This record gives sequence, structure tokens and C-alpha cells, in this order.
Amino acid sequence: MTTNRKQQKTTIETHKIMTETENNHKYTQNDSLGKHSHHRAAVKMLPTFVRATPDGTEKGDYLALDLGGTNFRVLYVRVVEEQQKVVKMDSKICSIPQEMMLGTGEQLFDHIAQCLGEFLESQDLKGQTLPLGFTFSFPCEQKEIDKSILIRWTKGFSCSGVEGQDVVKLLKEAIHRRGDYDIGSVAMVNDTVGTMMSCGYRDQSCEIGMIIGTGTNACYMEEIKNVKRVEGEDGRMCINTEWGGFGDDGSLKDILTEFDEVVDQTSINPGVHTFEKMISGMYLGEIVRLLLVKMAEDKLLFKGETSEALLTPGQFETKYISEIEDGLENAQKILTALGLNWDPVDACVVRLVCDTISSRSARLCAAALATISNRIRVNRGLDHLKTTVGVDGTVYRKHPNFSEELQAAVRLLAPKCDITFLVSEDGSGKGAAMVTAVAHQNVCFLGFFCS
Ligand code: GLC
Repeated sequence: MTTNRKQQKTTIETHKIMTETENNHKYTQNDSLGKHSHHRAAVKMLPTFVRATPDGTEKGDYLALDLGGTNFRVLYVRVVEEQQKVVKMDSKICSIPQEMMLGTGEQLFDHIAQCLGEFLESQDLKGQTLPLGFTFSFPCEQKEIDKSILIRWTKGFSCSGVEGQDVVKLLKEAIHRRGDYDIGSVAMVNDTVGTMMSCGYRDQSCEIGMIIGTGTNACYMEEIKNVKRVEGEDGRMCINTEWGGFGDDGSLKDILTEFDEVVDQTSINPGVHTFEKMISGMYLGEIVRLLLVKMAEDKLLFKGETSEALLTPGQFETKYISEIEDGLENAQKILTALGLNWDPVDACVVRLVCDTISSRSARLCAAALATISNRIRVNRGLDHLKTTVGVDGTVYRKHPNFSEELQAAVRLLAPKCDITFLVSEDGSGKGAAMVTAVAHQNVCFLGFFCS
């Protein structure tokens, strides 16, 4: 396809998506941030109780926990005011076995408490009660910075007895069951918020955080007067949009394909996080696999033949998309490893399929990001907004041209916003410490429990 035709197609598709997102924008204005109407909103727009981005004066030692994928991390982080930096002192990774992702909440939190205990022991920190930032990357209804109710699991987790419960309480109970150490005040953080805050330390105009990895989501600084569920008229609060849920009310049905529907139906949470299932790393490989199977069955690929690997769900990994788009040689190696009987034209077609799916993902993200940026601009009564987005996630980082495609589409859709993209350095680790530091600083400022 020539660049012009490709651009024309992008414009038509993204405008279609924009209409949807604009409808959603109205929806969020009326419903998600409303006092009584937020329960029925698909895009949850959750208040985070983070009221300020860093100003560079934060300091202190913190613990950070990071749970959001198949690994769980514990970190010991120092925020150094003089050098304007966040230093990771040490960290430990514990894997979360698949059975634990689907087991009981008590098992999961005991495992987390054990991992944290072993880390404190190894660092000789067991006698201290350090403030702790907990990056818990799932939709939570936050009541306060240290009270956070899990709305529902996403991204393959489904531990019993946690939905509807306060995650901070479950963590503290697990620590008390052990009784061999304690923690200080806790700040709950979504990974998007950690990303925004870790970038905010480097660039104070960073007011949006975005993740495109296993899942996808974004947060941004909203005017408190618009957040009807929170008291107050002045200042801003970070809102965790949980944009992955966009479409759960059927608003995306016109652009869902038969492949998206199969991905949804075979997932552990059908009907939930529709937008995320079209975009994020957990699902992209599977969409491509389903498309390739269909094309082979229609005799458009591999001389009409498939292979056992291609017919097995999950066998076409999302990382193959990046590798295939990076070069035809990679495509050939991967198709051979999948046991497929390919010819050079097949390899080119497979690359085109990967490109189509990753481009769709980038443009959908761009449409949602453009909506947020425009909202911030309109909120502030500006003709032109200059802002920074802190970004993280394997899809954004690792795909050869995802970031360029996303940025080009945002420029097209939000021409009045000049957006700088800043890749976060460990947002869910250092960023969590940053949120804790800002919360701690504000609390100290007000004269409450300060160490
Ligand atoms: C899922 C979670 C959300 C998280 C995102 C990225 O969408 O619901 O909380 O931010 O994944 O990890």
C-alpha cells in the first residue's frame, strides 16, 4: 500500500474510532465521574487519591511491591532530593505460578508476604517499618490512598475471595499471619499512575501515564471539581481511566471482528475489557493466530494446510508479531518453527497480517489518548496544550514501529495538543515509591503521622 493510501485508510479508521471515543468522552463526563452514575459506566474513571505530581523535593527510603503480571517484584528504593533522582537499592522477583493466579486470595497474599519477608531478611530491614508503595495493576475502587477495593481481576488472574475486598487489608492480614515483620503506611498505585509519577520526577509537565503491555490502560490529572465522587473544588486528582473496559457496554460492536469475538469468548473473563482485548500483549498473538488459521482454511495461505502448533491456542506468541515485522527472515524462521509449509509469498502475507493487527492496536490507543489530551486541553480552556505522556509496556517498548504509528495517529487526531512521549524507567517500581513519597510528603505537610 502506498503511504498516501495507507494514511487515507488510517484517517478514515481513526475518525470512526474517534466518533466512538467522543461518544465515550461524553459518556465519561456524564457518568463515570458522576456521584451516582459511575456504577453503570464501562470506562470506570477511578479516583486514585493522588493529588499532585512530584515537585522534585521528595526524599526518603521506601519499599515497593509490584503485582500485575506473571511476576511479582519487591523493591527497596531511595528517593534522593539533592540529585533529583530515584535510586533502586535492590529488588527481588518471585514468580506467580499459573495455579496461584487461579487459586485462593489467601494463598496469593501469603506468597506475596513470604516474598517480601525473604527480601527484608536479605536486606537486613526486618526491624524497620518502611512506608510501602503497592503497585497493584488491576481495577480498584480506591477509597483513600491506603484503601483499595478490587473491582474485578483482569489479565488472566482469578483468585477467589479478593474481588470486592480491600487489597491493603488482605496484604496486612497476610503479614500479620506471619508475625515476623511489619510495614509502615501503604500507598496503593495503579501501574499507569506509577508510570506517570516516575516520569513526572524527570519532566514536571507529565500528567498522563499510559501502559501498553500485557494489558492496556491510562491515567491523567483531572480537575477535582469534575470528579463528583470526591469532595473539593480546587486542585486536581489523578484518574485511573481503566480504558481497557471501553466497549463492555457494546459501544465498540461495529468495529469488533469475528476474531475479537473468539478471543473474548475463550478468555477467562468474557464480555470484560473489550478494548484491552483488541490492543494488548496478552491477546494480540492470539488474534493473529486466529486470522492465519482462517486464511489457511480459505486456502489463502500455506497451500491450505495448517499445523498442530498453529491450531493450538496461545502458540502464536505476541512477541512473534514484533519479530516478524522486524524482518522477513524472522518470519520464515517462526513459520518453520510452527511446523508450517510456507513459501516466500506466505511469509510476506503473514507479515502484512501482523502489521494490520499491531497497527490497529496502535491507532486504537492513539484514539483514546487523543481523547484524554483533548479533555485536559478543554478542561483548562486552552487553545493549545503542551503535555508529556509517561509510557511503559512491552508492546510499546519492543515492537519495531508501534510507538511511531501511535504518535502519528495522535498528531492527526489531537492537532491542538503537542505531546511528548517519555518512556518510563521502572514506573511500577520506582514510580510506586514516588507516589508513596508524594503522599507521605503531603501528609507530613498537614502534620499527620510523620516519621
Ligand atoms: C489492566 C488492568 C489495569 C492496568 C492495565 C495495564 O487493564 O485492569 O489496572 O493498568 O491492565 O497493566
